[in-house]
Amino acid sequence: MPASPIAVMASGKGSNLGAILAAIEAGACPAEVRLALSDRADAGALEIARKAGVAEVVHLNPRDYESRERFDMACAERIEQAGCEWIVLAGYMRILSEAFVRRFAGRIINIHPALLPAFPGAHAVRDALEYGVTITGVTVHLVNEVLDGGPILAQAAVPVREDDTEATLHARIHEAEHRLYPETLARMIREGFVVEGRRVRWKGR
Ligand code: GRF
Repeated sequence: MPASPIAVMASGKGSNLGAILAAIEAGACPAEVRLALSDRADAGALEIARKAGVAEVVHLNPRDYESRERFDMACAERIEQAGCEWIVLAGYMRILSEAFVRRFAGRIINIHPALLPAFPGAHAVRDALEYGVTITGVTVHLVNEVLDGGPILAQAAVPVREDDTEATLHARIHEAEHRLYPETLARMIREGFVVEGRRVRWKGR
């Protein structure tokens, strides 16, 4: 099966990008990261992408653009120029404009460090811990115009321990993410899916 060209957008450390690149390298995920794009010059993700030999490693500074829409449009152009089929958000901390989401409708995925619809937003791990849940986890979902609100592609549970801090819990959530994200991406590419209402139906091989 030919590798599916993907763009990864990341603002942070980039461990999920690293996990995806490792799965590709190991032959477990039929994708090719053609473009790694970040809104932050200091994102670890850019360094990880460079070391792995990703063809295009790009930093675009939102301050250079007059609006969120203009910035997103510049990102969209890079993604299209690189011929990417999927856009994989991996710790991308900006909210995407509606125009961007529409342009790539059904082709943008995100990973969220909680079992959605519980604990959406930027502090999911802390919120889950403070709420006192005993099970939290990870969600891979399609991106639509509602923040952390798109149809769910995959989830994995992570138990909360009594002595967990935000850091220890996030570390175990990261481990689950590093398994689930490449696995889900591989399934999407190999198998495909259709969305019926909010439900995702996998096509089977
Ligand atoms: C992950 O926990 C992901 O769920 C959230 O941001 C974090 C990114 O981590 N959206 P990394 O940059 O991939 O290490």
